[in-house]
Amino acid sequence: MPSEAPFLQEEILKLKYQRRAIILAHNYQRDEVQEIADFVGDSLELSRTASTIDCEVIVFAGVRFMAESASILCPDKKVLLTEVEAGCPMADMIRVDSPRDKITGFPGFKIPPQYIYPRETTLRDIKGKYPGVPVVAYVNTTADVKAESDVCCTSANVVKVIESLPDEQVICIPDRNLSMWAQHNTKKKVIAWDGYCHVHERAKTEDVERARREHPKALFMAHPECRLDVLEMADNVTSTSGMLRFAKASSEKEFVVGTELGLLYRLKKENPDKVFYPLRKDMICPEMKKTTIESLVRALKETTYLVKVDNEIRVPARKALDRMLAIR
Ligand code: 13P
Ligand code: SF4
Repeated sequence: MPSEAPFLQEEILKLKYQRRAIILAHNYQRDEVQEIADFVGDSLELSRTASTIDCEVIVFAGVRFMAESASILCPDKKVLLTEVEAGCPMADMIRVDSPRDKITGFPGFKIPPQYIYPRETTLRDIKGKYPGVPVVAYVNTTADVKAESDVCCTSANVVKVIESLPDEQVICIPDRNLSMWAQHNTKKKVIAWDGYCHVHERAKTEDVERARREHPKALFMAHPECRLDVLEMADNVTSTSGMLRFAKASSEKEFVVGTELGLLYRLKKENPDKVFYPLRKDMICPEMKKTTIESLVRALKETTYLVKVDNEIRVPARKALDRMLAIR
């Protein structure tokens, strides 16, 4: 941590008190950002916290879609995204009605092609093709995409959300890996979108084989944004906070962690008697790492960067988020 950090931390505490602000941070944030945050969690926990918290300002240490969700859920609060350019590339892979430029797919990707919607089509194209089929939108989507969807989901509840719907088929956007994981766990038909997280997509079966050779006693935990062939090799597939719970509850002492490296901070801190190995050392999300202690100070001092979702989008997007939050 930089040497001016204690001073900046004091300043953050003072500003937080003056502004009646709360800092929410995702589990992938830098160690020092997690340390100063009031609440650190996975996407579902952060949405739930944002919807119930008592404060005037929410400072979101995460990426844009998370701050947008907080603004959708708390229109009367000032929601600040600590770094204006912190976005999620996967959330940007799907658009409501203007097609993206053609992006070449990943060779070797094994999902049956009839189930994948190419990214150069739009959400409205796919809705037109399957009229009446509900759209389940991963929270990693923009507010306007949520507004066009029936219900949201996170990595923690995707199967529960799909099962809660009366329909026998669902459109699941934008993560093909999460969708295929859901397909693996439900009898319903899941129509997937061809989006992916470049951080999790990196993990391959060879990485799991190597980790198993190097750490034969370790349990392997994987995030459902990983490829299905990797997930099939895991001892536990779950969200970031699900991994924290799994590691804490387990009587085993060693774990291989198949997600973004930021989670290792909490895993180690909360389980000092256990050992955690990253599946790959390069599973780092540059967007999540944009926020620093300095960004937090600036956000609180200058009210940057205000995220506000217009009512026209906010109201239908809120319906989709509320529908998810009502599922326990
Ligand atoms: P969760 O923490 O909800 O598992 O999400 C992972 C993620 O990629 C957030 O961008
Ligand atoms: Fe998006 Fe992946 Fe980064 Fe999460 S880890 S914000 S899904 S790019």
